[in-house]
Amino acid sequence: MSDRHRLFISRMLPGGEAPGAPLAVLRAHADIDVWEAGSPPTTEVLRARAAGCDGLLTMLTERVDRALLDAIPRLRVVANMAVGYDNVDVPACTARGVLVTNTPGVLTEATADMAWALLLAAARRLPEGDRALRGGEWGPWHPTWLLGHRVSGATLGIVGPGRIGRAVAQRAQGFGMRVLYSGRRPVTDFPGAFVPLDDLLARSEYVSMHVPLTPETERMCDAAFFASMRPDAIFVNTTRGGVVDQAALLEALRSGQIAGAGLDVMTPEPIPADDPLLAAPHLVVAPHLGSATLETRTAMAHLAVEGLLAGLEGRVPSNAVNPEALAAGRRRA
Ligand code: DGY
Repeated sequence: MSDRHRLFISRMLPGGEAPGAPLAVLRAHADIDVWEAGSPPTTEVLRARAAGCDGLLTMLTERVDRALLDAIPRLRVVANMAVGYDNVDVPACTARGVLVTNTPGVLTEATADMAWALLLAAARRLPEGDRALRGGEWGPWHPTWLLGHRVSGATLGIVGPGRIGRAVAQRAQGFGMRVLYSGRRPVTDFPGAFVPLDDLLARSEYVSMHVPLTPETERMCDAAFFASMRPDAIFVNTTRGGVVDQAALLEALRSGQIAGAGLDVMTPEPIPADDPLLAAPHLVVAPHLGSATLETRTAMAHLAVEGLLAGLEGRVPSNAVNPEALAAGRRRA
């Protein structure tokens, strides 16, 4: 029997089997089993296919929980191909000596671009205009038809001043915007003014979410949050759907409590086409495309592969989420 590492890869990666592509790099080091279907493997399939593996390369769609970890006693590394890792039970991994890695940095700019795409599309009512034109509703130019909201010179509020929040704020400088931000504490050299969240919500014409999904941030955008926003404000979310109470957002849009929203993330994903949220006025949506450029997804896959190989070799990669797991793993071995 081969003594090479055995890995399960939960989706075909960008570049496929081409030489130099992330999968080819992995194949040179390990025996790999790739789930090639478009949809994620079910829990049962994942458990069965991963059972004898030393490493997993997962997407944000796979739940890496205690039950899965218990079914993979040899497991040493989980490389999650996403910057967010709310799908992974990190403490359970650490307790079992399983290293977890993510893909920070490489998707910052693409995701910031997407936040801006949604912000602009919602502010200038682009999808409504597109639908009206295609639907034959484009009449003669009218001074009050499809009026949106100013972007240049407006105030942008960033909730969560991490890498992506900072990149969104940097782009705002080109629009001559005032930037406010809130988070646990002020951060060095952030291009904006640190303010309490209430203050940010009361003053911002655009509010863009950049907090990770954790028990503390789950549904933090609730009825009180939207009630604190300005009636001419637009809400943008490119992080995780779980930070939003969608019923509260729907009500805020329906009642005109806020002027619009742009969402790249929702609960659940995919959201059913008949979900009431999708019928909300002034809502622009995208199907979780924040990092969806060829360049970014390729870089994410390479970074995931690097983390996976480093962990299997007993090295702590720069993208380790729980570096302490390696020491725990050594004790376990
Ligand atoms: C992430 O990386 O967490 C994004 O949501 C997917 O690119």
